[in-house]
Amino acid sequence: MKVTVVGAGNVGSTCANVLAHNEIANEIVLLDIKEGVAEGKALDMWETSPVNLYDSRITGSTNDYSKTAGSEVVVITSGIPRKPGMSRDDLIATNAGIVKSVTENVIEHSPNAKIIIVSNPLDVMCYTAYLSAKVDKSRVMGMAGVLDTARYRSFLAMELNVSPKDIQALLMGGHGDTMVPLPRYTTVGGIPVTELISEEKLNAIIERTKFGGGEIVKLLGTSAWYAPGAAAAQMVEAIVKDQKRVLPVCSWLEGEYGQNGIYLGVPVILGKNGIEKILEVELNEAEQALLVESAAAVRNVMGVLDGMDVL
Ligand code: NAI
Ligand code: 2OP
Repeated sequence: MKVTVVGAGNVGSTCANVLAHNEIANEIVLLDIKEGVAEGKALDMWETSPVNLYDSRITGSTNDYSKTAGSEVVVITSGIPRKPGMSRDDLIATNAGIVKSVTENVIEHSPNAKIIIVSNPLDVMCYTAYLSAKVDKSRVMGMAGVLDTARYRSFLAMELNVSPKDIQALLMGGHGDTMVPLPRYTTVGGIPVTELISEEKLNAIIERTKFGGGEIVKLLGTSAWYAPGAAAAQMVEAIVKDQKRVLPVCSWLEGEYGQNGIYLGVPVILGKNGIEKILEVELNEAEQALLVESAAAVRNVMGVLDGMDVL
């Protein structure tokens, strides 16, 4: 099982490291445009294998896509990250050009690959990749919901002083400030979260989740990588091990949740064929209104992209 990670920066190298340490794929290729960076990081990771006892083979490549040939899954993290004061949407022009050319190269060498986009602005970069890859919608998806729900669950675990392992949650919509965490679909060891926490505290956690990416940018001066890298690796694992995990994944919608022709985060079954099924859960009026607002925000950015003539 071969997996490629494009972009050997903070998120890509963290993702590759998790894939190797957890033996999620037996062959991992890390690729970057910067001379020597992917090779150097891959070699450094491989040198930890005798210490940490894994045998996934990890190699690096400077922009040579022939090395990625035959990959089952490709994670695309290439692009520029947010700096303080920048929104994810500020990244659009640069990252759309990068995602387009990377996707074309990936599909040329791995025509059957499932593609997981990480580059921001996430939902619109998925759209860019989908248009560039020209493959079935089940094979082009984005990582955001796994990260955003992880943030939400980790904040709840801190507040309730319980193990994050016992918190299950659903979050939908775009990867931005309009994301829609769903308390009605959040449980702690099977108990509805609303039984355990006041509305005021829950609302504060929801707000913190929506701005969770920005919180890290303010602290670090650039965007997060440990949780994003691990979240992307979890999606890779679901596909390569055909786990049929139920995860929030940025997916191309054709009528689901009343949305058509847009990438948005929704719950799906993730397995060897990529997005095997989009799960349609019932939303109440207020939840549906938040989802519509989130979709409008994503459509705005799609409009910016369409007006730029990058694709
Ligand atoms: P980074 O700057 O550390 O790494 C990006 C890497 O992409 C660099 O090494 C750069 O050389 C490489 N690159 C640029 N153009 C390339 C090309 N044409 N081909 C191959 N490689 C190329 O950035 P970081 O922190 O790893 O973030 C990467 C992207 O992921 C950013 O757009 C960031 O906003 C996004 N992100 C998305 C998250 C999500 O939840 N979807 C979470 C965190 C980051
Ligand atoms: C994050 O949520 C910036 O999208 C990135 O950390």
